[in-house]
Amino acid sequence: MNRGFIRWALAAVGMLTAAQSFGQNYPTRPVTIIVPFAAGGPTDVIARITGEYFSKALGQQFVIENVAGAGGTTGTTRLAQAKPDGYSIMMGHMGTHGAAPALYAGLKYDPQKDFAPIGLVAGTPILIVAKKDFPAANLKEFVAKLKDPAAKIKQAHAGVGSVSFTTCTLLTSQLGVKNIVAAYRGTGPALNDLVGGQVDYMCDQIVNVVEQVKGGSIRAYGIATAERSPALPDVPTTKEGGLPEYQVSAWNALFAPQGLPKEIHAKLADTLVQALEDPNTRKRLAELGSVIPDKAGRSPEALAALVKSEVARWTPILKAAQTAVK
Ligand code: MLT
Repeated sequence: MNRGFIRWALAAVGMLTAAQSFGQNYPTRPVTIIVPFAAGGPTDVIARITGEYFSKALGQQFVIENVAGAGGTTGTTRLAQAKPDGYSIMMGHMGTHGAAPALYAGLKYDPQKDFAPIGLVAGTPILIVAKKDFPAANLKEFVAKLKDPAAKIKQAHAGVGSVSFTTCTLLTSQLGVKNIVAAYRGTGPALNDLVGGQVDYMCDQIVNVVEQVKGGSIRAYGIATAERSPALPDVPTTKEGGLPEYQVSAWNALFAPQGLPKEIHAKLADTLVQALEDPNTRKRLAELGSVIPDKAGRSPEALAALVKSEVARWTPILKAAQTAVK
């Protein structure tokens, strides 16, 4: 066996060992979780709960960085272009990795190619929520108001491509109505204005509104899932309210940049599976109305399949609603 081959083989083994030890020791410094919306919204809340478990489990701080703008696509682009070294990950969702391609002709990332899917964190049922003195006693009266041009109803959302934008676009296109809209950097700030009465309603993820609905500072006209949520048992389903066609849930999931070393990918995916088995993490997510994925739904492969199916689902709906951003 010649000397050159031996040198090559030793170098290869050295690199492999270094890569494995790099993966085994990961993380050796804090990790950034990009949240592509303002602090205090549903994506932020889910990221913070998840990050707290990761910090404890992996012994390094998982630090939230809110990178808001353009309906979540600014922060998502930031992650797609980040080094795939495991020190930048993100909390994405149905908007950033499902709806955005249909809405941004010049989108700077491909949800199916530019990320390493780590795993689904939480399903998030959608509620139609309104300011507390909205002049409607139930969903039927709410819909009648939406259809009345003289009512000049104002809808809040977190930017074109956000979950709140996408799910309210589904609602208004089903009803054949157009609203005045107000875009925010997240549904955290939007909720403040809903409580204050500056806007009339929004379609939001349950984790953002449970406390306000329970406290009566806003009102919920319906939850767009087949069954009521244990977190808000008094909120009727849209089907009960006479709007059975409005069925929609969102989801939040962890992503890393494409090209993540497989040892690090596996460590992050395994830690997420553990997080969703952790009683405290489960309790906090469930109290906010999250639907915790079953074991089969937590893998990177399951998330890759979900992203593919969500892009396919939302593209025709959003194109038909002619909401593309030129
Ligand atoms: C959205 O897509 O509406 C976002 O989740 C809002 C947010 O997290 O602030």
